[in-house]
Amino acid sequence: MSKSDWFVDARFGMFIHWGLYSLAGKGEWSYARDSWKAGQYEKLMKKFNPLAFDPALWARLAKAAGMKYVVFTTRHHDGFCMFDSHFSDYKITNTPFGKDVTRMLVETFRDQGLRIGFYHSLPDWTHPGYADKESPEFMRHGELHKPTDAEYQDFINLLYHHLEQLLTEYGRIDLLFLDYTSKYKANEDYFQRDRQLSMIYKLQPDILVNDRLSFNKEQVRDFDYYTPEICIPNQPQMVKGKPVLWETCATMNNHWGYCKGDKNFKSLETLLCGLTGCVSRNGNLLLNVGPDGNGCIPQTSIHRLQDLAAWMKMNSESIHGAGKADYPPPHGTIFTQKGNDLFLHLLQAPLGDIILPQLRDKVEKITLLRNGADIPMITHWGFELLQDNELRIRPCGTKAGDVLKITLKR
Ligand code: GLC
Repeated sequence: MSKSDWFVDARFGMFIHWGLYSLAGKGEWSYARDSWKAGQYEKLMKKFNPLAFDPALWARLAKAAGMKYVVFTTRHHDGFCMFDSHFSDYKITNTPFGKDVTRMLVETFRDQGLRIGFYHSLPDWTHPGYADKESPEFMRHGELHKPTDAEYQDFINLLYHHLEQLLTEYGRIDLLFLDYTSKYKANEDYFQRDRQLSMIYKLQPDILVNDRLSFNKEQVRDFDYYTPEICIPNQPQMVKGKPVLWETCATMNNHWGYCKGDKNFKSLETLLCGLTGCVSRNGNLLLNVGPDGNGCIPQTSIHRLQDLAAWMKMNSESIHGAGKADYPPPHGTIFTQKGNDLFLHLLQAPLGDIILPQLRDKVEKITLLRNGADIPMITHWGFELLQDNELRIRPCGTKAGDVLKITLKR
């Protein structure tokens, strides 16, 4: 058993972006990108009262959709704490809602058997000790203040103490998603990687920490897992010549935080293609939902999660614990594999017969995963056109999203 076994087995998780910005409904970068008058954004705190917040519903939706872990935004770049910080007054427990939503969420998801991950922003746009060309002051006014040493120390200590609190007071935390190192700080150890990491592992020896604490090329870039964003890598990820754990994080529409005007939700097919694409390259998918200021996950996201749940009910075997296949996939498909079983994911209804490369004489049987129907292997027709070792099969009655289970001979 290694500390990352659960992560490899899980393959699918839920990302939740929820904060003050959810009330403004313009995405989580609103504080930097929209023209807020001084002090106005902070005033959202006095209005934050998400009476519809129902962590048990969120956990049930995630679990049914086959998600095995959750990653929650404890603090985003706007500096607002969604937990009961001991070091800042800019926090959820000072809103009319008044409850530590991080604690509620952690307890509920854990009860449902999901693993727990914390997202925590490295930048804090509200802190005088932080200055960055991607912060609101620069984006709005083109100006950048220079923090004094004392301000910077205070900023970095706040980050340290927040992480320390989050990893001490909420029980076992399985995963830490630190976001992000600005390209403007690429060559500095701005967030004090080693100091943070030694505290993190001391408190939670089995935690998995992502790769955004430092982009510094000179520094040894050994992290527990790597986080490509809204894209599917073409191959299993390697760092310094060795395969690494990785997870693509992706939005359901075009925003992480709730955005009222963004109705551009991805289709079930796109989400499935993303998930199987990750698994087929030994990676995970962390799929985001952005609840609104009242605590409601957008209806379309709920529908997608329910559709994923219906699909998982029949096909989860092809995802959990599965990974890259030993064989190349035929046209229009993605392969995953678990032990002796290959899973052929049909991205669209096939034109007709499917020709499987390199599999002739190697297959014991083929079934349609959703109903167990036999899929015949065709040896009496069209044979002369096959290349060496190709196997022709007839996937009658299949449609987009179907999975064929191909059991190999032992
Ligand atoms: C990007 C976004 C940030 C979001 C993160 C998730 O860095 O700018 O807002 O939280 O992606 O990975």
